Amino acid sequence: MPDLPPLPAPSHPRPERPRAIVLVGFMGSGKSTVGYSLAASLGWGFQDLDAVIATAAGKSIPQLFKEEGEQAFRARESDALATTLAQAELEPLVLALGGGGFVPEWNRAMLQNGKALTVFLDHPLDLMWKRCREAVTERPLASDYDSFQRLYRERLPIYEMSHLRVATAGKLPKEIAGVIQDWLRSSQPS
Ligand code: S3P
Repeated sequence: MPDLPPLPAPSHPRPERPRAIVLVGFMGSGKSTVGYSLAASLGWGFQDLDAVIATAAGKSIPQLFKEEGEQAFRARESDALATTLAQAELEPLVLALGGGGFVPEWNRAMLQNGKALTVFLDHPLDLMWKRCREAVTERPLASDYDSFQRLYRERLPIYEMSHLRVATAGKLPKEIAGVIQDWLRSSQPS
């Protein structure tokens, strides 16, 4: 079971047999690493939405922000989410969303289709900042601490609309994946 109580009354039901487990959270919260590990232990496919967007566009994420702007990136992100969720109908998958992917209402509506389980990876802000600074990949929205912190505070109530929350500080990706998997097992209807 997740080690925090379920989030308050989501406006959408939690799927008992999800086709997609969607990891939600801020930049540097470990969505891709945990997602990869979770998919491997479930024997499910894994997709990183940023990678889907970059492949479809033939450009890196920083390049897209620079050349097309954030709004165009968000449109691409919604398209990629729709395509990926359609794929989940054929093959169940774990999906790591980008840090802003759960913010547009339209994206959340797509994720409330009764087939996706959303899991918020709740990691301490300072550690996420450190991770982003040390990462090889550039993150266009992680250039200074003040705006990073502001954005996190704005988004936190939105991340909290997820079905589940896992506090991830001090846990290995494998352990976090285990928490999610335990929850899945315990919630399967008999
Ligand atoms: C973003 C997070 C990034 C990427 C883009 C925008 C955001 O993904 O989608 O740079 O708005 O928080 P990660 O959360 O994987 O870093």
